[in-house]
Amino acid sequence: MKYKSQKVAYWFFALSMLLLSLQIIYGFIMGFAHMGYDNLHDFIPFNTARAVHTNLLVVWLLSGFMGAAYYIIPEEAENELVSVKWAYIQLISLAVVGVVAIVGYHFNYWEGRKFLEIPRPLDWLVVANVLLFLGLILFTLYKGKKRTTTSLVLTMGLVFAALLYLPGMIWFDNQTMDSFFRWWVVHLWVEGVWELIMGGILAFLLIKITGVDREVIEKWLYVIVGLTFISGILGTGHHYYYIGAPKYWLIIGGIFSALEPLAFLGMALFAVAMYRKGEKKHPNKIALMWTLGTAIVSFVGAGLLGLAHTLPQVNLWTHGTLVTAMHGHLAFWGAYGMIVFAAISYMMPNMTGRKLYDSGNGLTAFWLSNIGMIGMTTAFAAAGVAQVYMERIMGLEFGDVQNEIQVHFLILVLCATLFTTGVGIFIYEFIRYGQPTDEALEQHP
Ligand code: HEM
Ligand code: HEM
Ligand SMILES: [Fe+2]
Repeated sequence: MKYKSQKVAYWFFALSMLLLSLQIIYGFIMGFAHMGYDNLHDFIPFNTARAVHTNLLVVWLLSGFMGAAYYIIPEEAENELVSVKWAYIQLISLAVVGVVAIVGYHFNYWEGRKFLEIPRPLDWLVVANVLLFLGLILFTLYKGKKRTTTSLVLTMGLVFAALLYLPGMIWFDNQTMDSFFRWWVVHLWVEGVWELIMGGILAFLLIKITGVDREVIEKWLYVIVGLTFISGILGTGHHYYYIGAPKYWLIIGGIFSALEPLAFLGMALFAVAMYRKGEKKHPNKIALMWTLGTAIVSFVGAGLLGLAHTLPQVNLWTHGTLVTAMHGHLAFWGAYGMIVFAAISYMMPNMTGRKLYDSGNGLTAFWLSNIGMIGMTTAFAAAGVAQVYMERIMGLEFGDVQNEIQVHFLILVLCATLFTTGVGIFIYEFIRYGQPTDEALEQHP
C-alpha cells in the first residue's frame, strides 16, 4: 500500500463479505424450497427470497468493486483519495440503502422487476450514493499525477454503470417497454460496462502480480474493451426475442450475442499469456490463482454457458427455465465474484502488512468454492434440461415438473455446502488479517 487513504477499501470488502454471507443463506432457503421443504414460506416466500438473493448479490459485488476502486485509483493516480471522511459516509449510506431495501422486500415494499426490485423512491438514494462515490473517484483522478489506461478503463466502467442505472428508473405502463429498458440496466451492466470494471481490476492485478510491462498489459485492455462493445451492445437483442419487441432482434441478437464470448475468451487468453510471460516471483500465489481463475471461469460461465442458450432457436425452449439459473450462477461467480475475491486476496496483505497467503487455507478456500460452484451449475443444468423436456416438450404442468425435478436440488444443496465451506474459509482468513495499519505503507512487493 502506498497511500494511507487506500485503507478505506477494507471496510467496503468487509461489507461485501457480510452481504455475501446473507446472500448464501437466502440461496439455501430457495434450495430447500425447491426440494419440497418450504417451511419458511409464511415469513419468506420464494419470490422474496429470490429478490433478496439476487439483490444482495448485486450489492456485495458493487461494494467489492468500490473497495477495489478506492485502492486502485490512488495508487494509479499517485495521489491520496480526496476525502476519506466522505468515502466512509458513502460506505455507510450504501449499507443503509441496501439494508432498507432488503428489509422492505420482506414487507412487500418492492417492484416485481427481476434484479431491479428496489422501489423508485429508494432508487434516488442509490443515485445520490453513486454520485458521491464517482465524485470522489473522479476528483482523485483529476488531482492525481497520472491517468493510466488501467485507471481510465476502470473509471469508465464505473461511470457508465451509474448512467445505465437511469433507464431502469423510467416509468412505463407497458410491460414490453418496461422489459426493453430493464435490459439496458441488467444486460448492459453484466455484458458491457461491468466487463470494463473487471478488465480494469484484472489489468491492475496482472501488472502487480506478473511484473509484465504496463504497456503490454494495457494494449490487451484496448482489445478487450473493443470486443466487449462490438458484441455486447447489440447482443442485448438476445433478451428481445419473445417479449413483444420487433422481429429483427431475432437475427441481430442471435449474431451479436454469439460473438460475446470472444471478449471473455480474450480476457482468459490475456491473463494466461501474461502469467506465462511474467517473472513468477510474486509471493502471493493465492491472489494469482483468483486472478487467473476469474479470467478462465468467466469464459466458461458467461461465454460458453451463455452461448449455450443465446440462439433464438434454443432460447425458444430454454427461456425462463432453470437453464438460466445454471448460466447465471457460474457467470456471476466467475466474472464478478472471483474478481472481487482476487482483489481482496491481493490487497489485504498489502493493507495489513500480514502475509497470511502461505497457509493452506487460501488454497482450500479456492478449490472448495470453485468445485462447489461447478457442481451447483451442473445440478441446475440437469434440472433445467429436464424441466425443458417435461414442461415444454411433453407438455406437463409447471408445478408437476417442479415435483419431478426435486432430486436435482438435493445435489444442488450438497454442492452449495462445499461452496459455502470454501467461502467460509475465505471469510475466516479475511477476518484473521484484521484491520489495515499505517505500518503497512510501502512494505508490499
Ligand atoms: C451457495 C448457495 C447458493 C444456493 C443454494 C443458491 C440457490 C439459488 C436458487 C435455488 C435460485 C433460484 C432459482 C429459481 O429461480 O428457481 C438462485 C438464483 C440465483 N442465484 Fe443463487 N444460490 C447460491 C449462491 C449464489 C451465488 C454465490 C451467486 C453468484 C455469485 C448466485 C447467483 C444467483 C443468480 C444470479 C440467481 C438468479 C438466476 C436467474 O436469473 O435465473 N447464487 N440461487
Ligand atoms: C459475466 C457475464 C454474464 C453474467 C453475469 C450473466 C448473467 C445472466 C443472468 C443473471 C441472466 C438472467 C437475467 C434475467 O432473467 O433477469 C442471464 C440471462 C441470459 N444470458 Fe447471461 N450473463 C453473462 C454473459 C452472457 C453472455 C456472454 C451470453 C451469450 C453468449 C449470455 C447469454 C444469456 C442469455 C441468452 C440469457 C437469457 C436467458 C433467458 O431468459 O432466456 N450471458 N445472464
Ligand atoms: Fe444478456
